[in-house]
Amino acid sequence: MHGPYSCRDASSSVSWGAATPPFRRRLRSSFPSPTAKKKPMPRQSTLTQQQSPQHSTGRVDLLPHKRIYRITMDMAAGPPLPASPSQPDALIDHAASITYWNSVSADTTGMLGGYPQTSRIDLQGSSNFLIKLRRTKSSIPARDALPPLNRAADCGAGVGRITKEFLLKVAKRVDVVEPVKKFTDELVQGLKSGEWAGDGADPRGGRGQVGEVVNLGLQDWTPEVGAYDLIWNQWCVGHLTDVQLVDYLERCKNGLVEGNESWIVVKENMSTDIHQQDIYDDEDSSVTRSDDKFRKLFKEAGLKLVATDLQRGFPKELFPVRIYALQPQQIGRKALDRPLYPGIHS
Ligand SMILES: C[S@@+](CC[C@H](N)C(=O)[O-])C[C@H]1O[C@@H](n2cnc3c(N)ncnc32)[C@H](O)[C@@H]1O
Repeated sequence: MHGPYSCRDASSSVSWGAATPPFRRRLRSSFPSPTAKKKPMPRQSTLTQQQSPQHSTGRVDLLPHKRIYRITMDMAAGPPLPASPSQPDALIDHAASITYWNSVSADTTGMLGGYPQTSRIDLQGSSNFLIKLRRTKSSIPARDALPPLNRAADCGAGVGRITKEFLLKVAKRVDVVEPVKKFTDELVQGLKSGEWAGDGADPRGGRGQVGEVVNLGLQDWTPEVGAYDLIWNQWCVGHLTDVQLVDYLERCKNGLVEGNESWIVVKENMSTDIHQQDIYDDEDSSVTRSDDKFRKLFKEAGLKLVATDLQRGFPKELFPVRIYALQPQQIGRKALDRPLYPGIHS
Protein backbone atom coordinates (compact mmCIF):
# COMPACT_ATOMS: atom_id res chain seq x y z
CA MET A 1 0.00 0.00 0.00
CA HIS A 2 1.19 3.50 -0.76
CA GLY A 3 0.67 6.88 0.77
CA PRO A 4 0.88 7.65 4.44
CA TYR A 5 0.66 3.97 5.35
CA SER A 6 3.59 2.82 3.26
CA CYS A 7 6.48 1.06 4.88
CA ARG A 8 8.91 3.70 3.75
CA ASP A 9 6.87 6.41 5.33
CA ALA A 10 6.60 4.49 8.53
CA SER A 11 10.33 4.25 8.93
CA SER A 12 11.00 7.82 7.95
CA SER A 13 9.99 10.95 9.72
CA VAL A 14 6.70 11.35 7.92
CA SER A 15 4.06 13.05 10.02
CA TRP A 16 2.03 10.71 12.16
CA GLY A 17 -0.55 13.32 12.92
CA ALA A 18 -1.09 13.92 16.58
CA ALA A 19 0.52 10.67 17.62
CA THR A 20 1.34 10.76 21.27
CA PRO A 21 5.00 10.86 22.23
CA PRO A 22 4.90 7.38 23.81
CA PHE A 23 3.51 6.02 20.58
CA ARG A 24 6.16 7.67 18.47
CA ARG A 25 8.79 6.27 20.77
CA ARG A 26 7.41 2.81 20.37
CA LEU A 27 7.13 3.29 16.65
CA ARG A 28 10.73 4.31 16.31
CA SER A 29 11.98 1.53 18.47
CA SER A 30 10.05 -0.90 16.28
CA PHE A 31 11.81 0.17 13.13
CA PRO A 32 14.01 -1.33 11.96
CA SER A 33 14.27 -3.72 14.88
CA PRO A 34 12.39 -6.90 14.02
CA THR A 35 9.07 -7.21 15.82
CA ALA A 36 5.80 -8.92 15.33
CA LYS A 37 3.10 -7.04 13.53
CA LYS A 38 1.64 -3.96 15.05
CA LYS A 39 -1.86 -3.38 16.16
CA PRO A 40 -3.86 -0.45 14.92
CA MET A 41 -4.09 0.72 18.49
CA PRO A 42 -1.71 1.53 21.29
CA ARG A 43 -1.46 -2.14 22.05
CA GLN A 44 1.75 -2.26 20.06
CA SER A 45 3.45 -5.58 20.09
CA THR A 46 6.05 -5.84 22.75
CA LEU A 47 7.17 -9.32 21.86
CA THR A 48 10.62 -10.13 22.95
CA GLN A 49 13.02 -11.06 20.25
CA GLN A 50 12.75 -14.68 21.30
CA GLN A 51 9.02 -14.65 20.88
CA SER A 52 9.12 -12.88 17.58
CA PRO A 53 8.82 -15.38 14.75
CA GLN A 54 10.47 -12.96 12.36
CA HIS A 55 13.48 -12.36 14.50
CA SER A 56 15.76 -15.11 13.44
CA THR A 57 15.15 -14.46 9.77
CA GLY A 58 17.60 -11.63 10.09
CA ARG A 59 15.17 -9.60 7.99
CA VAL A 60 13.92 -6.27 9.11
CA ASP A 61 10.20 -5.90 9.60
CA LEU A 62 7.83 -4.13 7.23
CA LEU A 63 7.68 -7.01 4.84
CA PRO A 64 4.26 -7.71 3.46
CA HIS A 65 2.46 -10.08 5.74
CA LYS A 66 2.44 -13.01 3.33
CA ARG A 67 6.16 -12.76 2.81
CA ILE A 68 6.85 -12.77 6.48
CA TYR A 69 4.68 -15.82 6.76
CA ARG A 70 6.47 -17.64 3.98
CA ILE A 71 9.87 -16.84 5.33
CA THR A 72 8.97 -17.94 8.81
CA MET A 73 7.39 -21.11 7.47
CA ASP A 74 10.69 -21.91 5.75
CA MET A 75 12.34 -21.53 9.07
CA ALA A 76 10.20 -24.23 10.55
CA ALA A 77 12.72 -26.71 9.22
CA GLY A 78 15.48 -24.91 11.09
CA PRO A 79 16.07 -24.62 14.81
CA PRO A 80 12.78 -24.81 16.73
CA LEU A 81 11.38 -21.51 17.90
CA PRO A 82 10.97 -21.06 21.62
CA ALA A 83 7.35 -21.80 22.49
CA SER A 84 5.14 -18.97 23.68
CA PRO A 85 3.54 -19.45 27.07
CA SER A 86 0.72 -21.93 26.69
CA GLN A 87 -1.76 -19.68 28.48
CA PRO A 88 -0.88 -16.10 27.67
CA ASP A 89 -4.30 -14.94 28.85
CA ALA A 90 -3.35 -15.96 32.40
CA LEU A 91 -1.09 -12.90 32.38
CA ILE A 92 -3.97 -10.45 31.85
CA ASP A 93 -4.22 -7.92 34.63
CA HIS A 94 -7.29 -5.67 34.42
CA ALA A 95 -5.89 -3.01 36.73
CA ALA A 96 -2.78 -2.73 34.54
CA SER A 97 -4.95 -2.38 31.42
CA ILE A 98 -6.95 0.41 32.94
CA THR A 99 -3.82 2.21 34.10
CA TYR A 100 -2.48 1.93 30.58
CA TRP A 101 -5.66 3.21 28.92
CA ASN A 102 -5.92 6.09 31.36
CA SER A 103 -2.50 7.21 30.14
CA VAL A 104 -3.64 7.34 26.52
CA SER A 105 -5.04 10.45 24.86
CA ALA A 106 -8.84 10.54 24.65
CA ASP A 107 -9.07 10.79 20.88
CA THR A 108 -8.98 8.63 17.77
CA THR A 109 -5.18 8.71 17.68
CA GLY A 110 -5.11 7.32 21.21
CA MET A 111 -7.66 4.64 20.34
CA LEU A 112 -5.81 3.58 17.21
CA GLY A 113 -2.28 3.70 18.48
CA GLY A 114 -1.10 6.51 16.28
CA TYR A 115 -2.88 5.19 13.19
CA PRO A 116 -5.89 7.51 13.05
CA GLN A 117 -5.79 7.20 9.27
CA THR A 118 -7.08 3.66 9.55
CA SER A 119 -10.34 4.75 11.17
CA ARG A 120 -12.17 5.66 7.98
CA ILE A 121 -11.34 2.42 6.19
CA ASP A 122 -12.11 0.39 9.30
CA LEU A 123 -15.54 2.00 9.64
CA GLN A 124 -16.26 1.54 5.95
CA GLY A 125 -15.34 -2.16 6.22
CA SER A 126 -17.64 -2.55 9.22
CA SER A 127 -20.49 -0.78 7.50
CA ASN A 128 -20.17 -2.94 4.37
CA PHE A 129 -20.06 -6.08 6.46
CA LEU A 130 -23.18 -5.18 8.41
CA ILE A 131 -25.10 -4.23 5.28
CA LYS A 132 -24.27 -7.59 3.66
CA LEU A 133 -25.21 -9.41 6.82
CA ARG A 134 -28.55 -7.65 7.09
CA ARG A 135 -29.38 -7.84 3.38
CA THR A 136 -28.99 -11.59 3.41
CA LYS A 137 -31.63 -11.89 6.11
CA SER A 138 -33.90 -9.09 5.01
CA SER A 139 -36.86 -9.34 2.71
CA ILE A 140 -36.50 -5.64 1.89
CA PRO A 141 -35.68 -5.10 -1.80
CA ALA A 142 -32.07 -4.13 -2.44
CA ARG A 143 -33.14 -0.77 -3.87
CA ASP A 144 -34.78 0.23 -0.57
CA ALA A 145 -32.85 1.41 2.45
CA LEU A 146 -32.66 -0.90 5.42
CA PRO A 147 -34.61 0.35 8.44
CA PRO A 148 -32.56 1.36 11.50
CA LEU A 149 -31.90 -1.26 14.13
CA ASN A 150 -33.69 -0.56 17.39
CA ARG A 151 -30.84 -0.95 19.80
CA ALA A 152 -27.11 -1.58 19.56
CA ALA A 153 -24.29 -1.69 22.09
CA ASP A 154 -20.76 -0.41 21.49
CA CYS A 155 -18.59 -2.49 23.82
CA GLY A 156 -15.12 -1.32 24.82
CA ALA A 157 -16.22 1.83 23.06
CA GLY A 158 -13.31 4.10 23.94
CA VAL A 159 -14.10 7.66 22.92
CA GLY A 160 -16.99 6.51 20.76
CA ARG A 161 -15.27 6.45 17.39
CA ILE A 162 -17.54 3.57 16.29
CA THR A 163 -20.64 4.89 18.05
CA LYS A 164 -20.44 8.30 16.41
CA GLU A 165 -19.26 7.42 12.95
CA PHE A 166 -21.07 4.15 12.44
CA LEU A 167 -23.56 2.83 15.00
CA LEU A 168 -25.57 6.04 15.41
CA LYS A 169 -26.12 5.89 11.66
CA VAL A 170 -27.60 2.40 11.76
CA ALA A 171 -29.37 2.14 15.12
CA LYS A 172 -31.98 4.25 16.90
CA ARG A 173 -30.29 3.78 20.23
CA VAL A 174 -26.68 2.94 21.07
CA ASP A 175 -25.62 1.97 24.57
CA VAL A 176 -21.97 2.43 25.40
CA VAL A 177 -19.87 0.16 27.61
CA GLU A 178 -16.36 1.32 28.42
CA PRO A 179 -14.37 1.02 31.65
CA VAL A 180 -12.38 4.25 31.28
CA LYS A 181 -14.49 7.22 32.31
CA LYS A 182 -12.34 9.86 30.68
CA PHE A 183 -13.13 8.22 27.34
CA THR A 184 -16.88 8.18 27.83
CA ASP A 185 -16.77 11.78 29.13
CA GLU A 186 -15.14 12.71 25.86
CA LEU A 187 -17.71 10.69 23.94
CA VAL A 188 -20.66 12.38 25.61
CA GLN A 189 -19.15 15.85 25.28
CA GLY A 190 -18.69 15.33 21.56
CA LEU A 191 -22.27 14.33 20.84
CA LYS A 192 -24.32 16.63 18.73
CA SER A 193 -27.54 18.11 19.95
CA GLY A 194 -30.27 15.49 20.17
CA GLU A 195 -27.85 12.58 20.23
CA TRP A 196 -27.60 12.22 23.98
CA ALA A 197 -29.49 10.31 26.64
CA GLY A 198 -32.16 9.18 24.31
CA ASP A 199 -34.27 6.09 24.13
CA GLY A 200 -34.06 6.20 20.37
CA ALA A 201 -37.71 7.13 20.12
CA ASP A 202 -37.00 10.50 18.57
CA PRO A 203 -34.07 10.14 16.20
CA ARG A 204 -33.07 13.32 14.40
CA GLY A 205 -31.57 13.71 10.98
CA GLY A 206 -31.53 9.96 10.48
CA ARG A 207 -29.20 9.49 13.44
CA GLY A 208 -29.86 7.56 16.59
CA GLN A 209 -29.18 8.54 20.17
CA VAL A 210 -26.76 7.35 22.78
CA GLY A 211 -28.71 5.63 25.54
CA GLU A 212 -26.93 4.24 28.57
CA VAL A 213 -23.27 4.86 29.24
CA VAL A 214 -21.85 2.10 31.42
CA ASN A 215 -18.36 2.41 32.91
CA LEU A 216 -17.53 -1.25 33.33
CA GLY A 217 -15.14 -3.78 31.88
CA LEU A 218 -16.90 -6.37 29.74
CA GLN A 219 -16.04 -9.06 32.28
CA ASP A 220 -18.42 -7.24 34.64
CA TRP A 221 -21.16 -6.21 32.22
CA THR A 222 -24.37 -8.14 31.67
CA PRO A 223 -26.50 -6.95 28.76
CA GLU A 224 -30.20 -6.61 29.38
CA VAL A 225 -31.88 -9.85 28.34
CA GLY A 226 -33.41 -9.85 24.87
CA ALA A 227 -32.58 -6.19 24.30
CA TYR A 228 -30.03 -5.85 21.50
CA ASP A 229 -30.11 -6.22 17.74
CA LEU A 230 -26.37 -5.72 17.59
CA ILE A 231 -23.63 -6.05 20.20
CA TRP A 232 -20.45 -4.65 18.68
CA ASN A 233 -17.06 -5.58 20.24
CA GLN A 234 -13.98 -4.15 18.61
CA TRP A 235 -10.37 -4.15 19.72
CA CYS A 236 -11.26 -4.78 23.34
CA VAL A 237 -11.97 -8.48 24.00
CA GLY A 238 -8.21 -9.09 24.21
CA HIS A 239 -8.54 -7.61 27.68
CA LEU A 240 -10.59 -10.61 28.80
CA THR A 241 -9.17 -14.00 29.67
CA ASP A 242 -10.46 -16.95 27.64
CA VAL A 243 -12.81 -17.97 30.45
CA GLN A 244 -14.08 -14.41 30.88
CA LEU A 245 -14.62 -14.08 27.15
CA VAL A 246 -16.69 -17.25 26.95
CA ASP A 247 -18.78 -16.16 29.97
CA TYR A 248 -19.22 -12.71 28.49
CA LEU A 249 -20.28 -14.06 25.10
CA GLU A 250 -22.81 -16.30 26.78
CA ARG A 251 -24.30 -13.25 28.49
CA CYS A 252 -24.31 -11.41 25.16
CA LYS A 253 -26.16 -14.33 23.62
CA ASN A 254 -28.93 -13.77 26.15
CA GLY A 255 -28.80 -10.06 25.44
CA LEU A 256 -29.80 -10.50 21.80
CA VAL A 257 -33.33 -9.91 20.58
CA GLU A 258 -34.79 -13.31 19.79
CA GLY A 259 -34.87 -14.35 16.17
CA ASN A 260 -32.33 -14.44 13.39
CA GLU A 261 -31.86 -10.73 12.78
CA SER A 262 -29.71 -9.92 15.76
CA TRP A 263 -25.96 -10.44 16.01
CA ILE A 264 -22.90 -10.26 18.20
CA VAL A 265 -19.98 -8.85 16.22
CA VAL A 266 -16.36 -9.28 17.23
CA LYS A 267 -13.70 -7.40 15.26
CA GLU A 268 -10.17 -8.04 16.43
CA ASN A 269 -6.52 -8.37 15.50
CA MET A 270 -5.35 -11.87 14.61
CA SER A 271 -2.23 -13.45 16.03
CA THR A 272 0.45 -14.00 13.40
CA ASP A 273 2.41 -16.43 15.54
CA ILE A 274 3.44 -19.31 13.28
CA HIS A 275 2.56 -21.78 16.01
CA GLN A 276 -0.93 -20.29 16.23
CA GLN A 277 -0.25 -19.14 19.77
CA ASP A 278 -2.01 -16.18 21.25
CA ILE A 279 0.34 -13.30 21.92
CA TYR A 280 0.48 -11.50 25.24
CA ASP A 281 1.19 -7.79 25.19
CA ASP A 282 2.45 -6.49 28.49
CA GLU A 283 2.06 -2.88 27.47
CA ASP A 284 -1.70 -2.86 27.87
CA SER A 285 -2.01 -6.35 29.38
CA SER A 286 -4.01 -7.96 26.59
CA VAL A 287 -3.82 -10.98 24.31
CA THR A 288 -4.00 -11.12 20.54
CA ARG A 289 -5.75 -14.37 19.71
CA SER A 290 -5.52 -16.62 16.69
CA ASP A 291 -8.47 -17.20 14.39
CA ASP A 292 -8.61 -20.82 15.57
CA LYS A 293 -8.76 -19.73 19.19
CA PHE A 294 -11.61 -17.31 18.49
CA ARG A 295 -13.62 -19.98 16.70
CA LYS A 296 -13.06 -22.41 19.56
CA LEU A 297 -14.20 -19.88 22.18
CA PHE A 298 -17.28 -18.92 20.13
CA LYS A 299 -18.26 -22.57 20.02
CA GLU A 300 -17.74 -22.95 23.75
CA ALA A 301 -20.04 -19.97 24.27
CA GLY A 302 -22.76 -21.71 22.25
CA LEU A 303 -22.42 -19.32 19.35
CA LYS A 304 -22.53 -20.03 15.69
CA LEU A 305 -20.31 -18.19 13.24
CA VAL A 306 -22.65 -16.92 10.56
CA ALA A 307 -20.31 -14.61 8.67
CA THR A 308 -16.70 -13.61 8.77
CA ASP A 309 -14.36 -11.51 6.68
CA LEU A 310 -10.90 -10.00 6.78
CA GLN A 311 -10.61 -6.24 6.94
CA ARG A 312 -8.91 -5.03 3.82
CA GLY A 313 -6.82 -1.96 3.11
CA PHE A 314 -4.88 -1.62 6.34
CA PRO A 315 -1.14 -0.88 6.39
CA LYS A 316 0.82 -4.07 5.86
CA GLU A 317 2.79 -3.74 9.07
CA LEU A 318 -0.34 -4.09 11.17
CA PHE A 319 -1.81 -7.31 12.44
CA PRO A 320 -4.49 -8.74 10.16
CA VAL A 321 -7.95 -7.83 11.42
CA ARG A 322 -10.93 -10.19 11.21
CA ILE A 323 -14.60 -9.52 11.77
CA TYR A 324 -17.02 -12.21 12.95
CA ALA A 325 -20.82 -12.18 13.15
CA LEU A 326 -22.26 -14.59 15.68
CA GLN A 327 -25.66 -15.89 16.64
CA PRO A 328 -26.87 -18.41 19.20
CA GLN A 329 -26.30 -21.99 18.05
CA GLN A 330 -29.78 -23.07 18.89
CA ILE A 331 -31.90 -20.65 16.91
CA GLY A 332 -32.62 -23.76 14.90
CA ARG A 333 -33.79 -21.98 11.80
CA LYS A 334 -32.93 -23.49 8.49
CA ALA A 335 -31.15 -20.45 7.12
CA LEU A 336 -28.70 -20.52 9.98
CA ASP A 337 -27.69 -24.08 9.26
CA ARG A 338 -25.65 -22.70 6.40
CA PRO A 339 -22.11 -22.12 7.66
CA LEU A 340 -21.68 -18.67 6.16
CA TYR A 341 -23.77 -16.14 4.41
CA PRO A 342 -23.11 -16.00 0.70
CA GLY A 343 -20.75 -13.24 -0.29
CA ILE A 344 -18.98 -13.14 3.04
CA HIS A 345 -16.15 -15.59 3.15
CA SER A 346 -13.96 -16.96 5.82
C1 LIG B 1 -8.01 0.05 21.15
S1 LIG B 1 -9.23 0.81 22.12
C2 LIG B 1 -10.65 0.52 21.05
C3 LIG B 1 -11.77 1.46 21.31
C4 LIG B 1 -12.91 1.30 20.32
N1 LIG B 1 -13.46 -0.03 20.37
C5 LIG B 1 -12.45 1.63 18.93
O1 LIG B 1 -12.28 0.71 18.11
O2 LIG B 1 -12.25 2.82 18.65
C6 LIG B 1 -9.48 -0.41 23.43
C7 LIG B 1 -10.53 -0.04 24.42
O3 LIG B 1 -10.78 -1.14 25.27
C8 LIG B 1 -11.01 -0.61 26.55
N2 LIG B 1 -10.86 -1.66 27.58
C9 LIG B 1 -9.80 -1.93 28.38
N3 LIG B 1 -10.09 -2.96 29.20
C10 LIG B 1 -11.35 -3.35 28.91
C11 LIG B 1 -12.22 -4.32 29.44
N4 LIG B 1 -11.85 -5.14 30.42
N5 LIG B 1 -13.47 -4.42 28.92
C12 LIG B 1 -13.85 -3.58 27.92
N6 LIG B 1 -13.07 -2.66 27.38
C13 LIG B 1 -11.83 -2.52 27.88
C14 LIG B 1 -10.02 0.50 26.66
O4 LIG B 1 -10.33 1.39 27.74
C15 LIG B 1 -10.15 1.13 25.30
O5 LIG B 1 -11.15 2.09 25.26
